[in-house]
Amino acid sequence: MTKAFSKDSTTSEVLEGIDLAGKTMLVTGANSGLGMETARALGAAGAKVVITTRDAAKSAEALAALQEAVPGAEFEAVEMDLGRLSSVRAAADTVLKRYPKLDAVIGNAGVMNTPFGRTEDGFETQFGVDHLGHFVFYNRIAPSLLAAAPARIVMLSSGAHFTSDILWDDINWEHTEYDKFTAYGQAKTANMLCAVAMNARLADRGVRAFSVHPGVILTNLGRYMSEADRAEMIGRMIKRMGGDPEAAKDVGFDKLPMFIKSVEQGAATSCWAATAASLDEHGGRYLADCQVAPVVDTYRPDGCMAYGLDPAAAERLWGVSEEMVGESFQP
Ligand SMILES: NC(=O)c1ccc[n+]([C@@H]2O[C@H](COP(=O)([O-])OP(=O)(O)OC[C@H]3O[C@@H](n4cnc5c(N)ncnc54)[C@H](OP(=O)(O)O)[C@@H]3O)[C@@H](O)[C@H]2O)c1
Repeated sequence: MTKAFSKDSTTSEVLEGIDLAGKTMLVTGANSGLGMETARALGAAGAKVVITTRDAAKSAEALAALQEAVPGAEFEAVEMDLGRLSSVRAAADTVLKRYPKLDAVIGNAGVMNTPFGRTEDGFETQFGVDHLGHFVFYNRIAPSLLAAAPARIVMLSSGAHFTSDILWDDINWEHTEYDKFTAYGQAKTANMLCAVAMNARLADRGVRAFSVHPGVILTNLGRYMSEADRAEMIGRMIKRMGGDPEAAKDVGFDKLPMFIKSVEQGAATSCWAATAASLDEHGGRYLADCQVAPVVDTYRPDGCMAYGLDPAAAERLWGVSEEMVGESFQP
């Protein structure tokens, strides 16, 4: 019988009884927060885990922490800066060479609500790092996933996708006044659509893709936000839940325990997405609280918007993304 999990489930609970010995799984952005916990938990379940970090010093520090947390488990690292396509392409070459078979990739790295900026290749930072960098990476390492099929691609999205559909007229913020919350929402909707398009291309060959909302977890993700930004974000969240945004005044995330998950709970949906056999028939879907999220039309923490699952929009974004990165893919 399939086990039922919930928003309170932890990484250990969703991986209990699952033996990942002989599997190789890669987690991007694993030197911190949810990525590190995902790597730890997959390693504890027996997988060889490849982490990516932005530089060698971060890799060394993260590997030491992971090895201390799970003595005897195999952890290795590859450096990749998702804000530079040259770095993404080099990392993908290394991965293809070192890991000809990859049973799962968890595209976890991301930035949130950054001040306006552009990546080295000229993309708005959040769209560039959270979506386009991963888009190139998944496509280039697809041969390793196909060689290991059945395999999984897990893309970290967010409930923030409720904030914005893709800004089709100005995806790259060339002439629209920048709003960091909307830009994050767009990037996280792009993660959902990327999972839909990738799944459409690979599922019949045994590679299924999912997007995931981990919940709200206190990590380094909030590093670009001021106190005023936090109040604004909480206000928008309360408003989306039908409440009075004024109630957000002087409230910090830590005062909102109903929203907050532990890191072990936050990383559980990623681990579930990477391993649960019961998900085979749900490729392309958005998962939250270790469940396939229902499509809703007003905000619900465990629901999702139809625009993030629309196959036509997914194909449109695929084409636009190829154009932006200057590369065509047939994974
Ligand atoms: N925490 C939440 O409440 C929450 C909610 C919804 C969705 N999510 C999603 O969950 C994922 C993990 O977030 P987290 O909460 O664990 O945050 P976190 O602790 O800040 O971890 C983010 C990771 O991404 C890496 N990263 C950032 N920019 C990068 C770049 N240019 N190239 C390569 N790696 C980069 C970071 O590396 P550095 O340490 O070098 O910066 C770090 O390893 C994100 O995709 C986020 O959008 C989180």
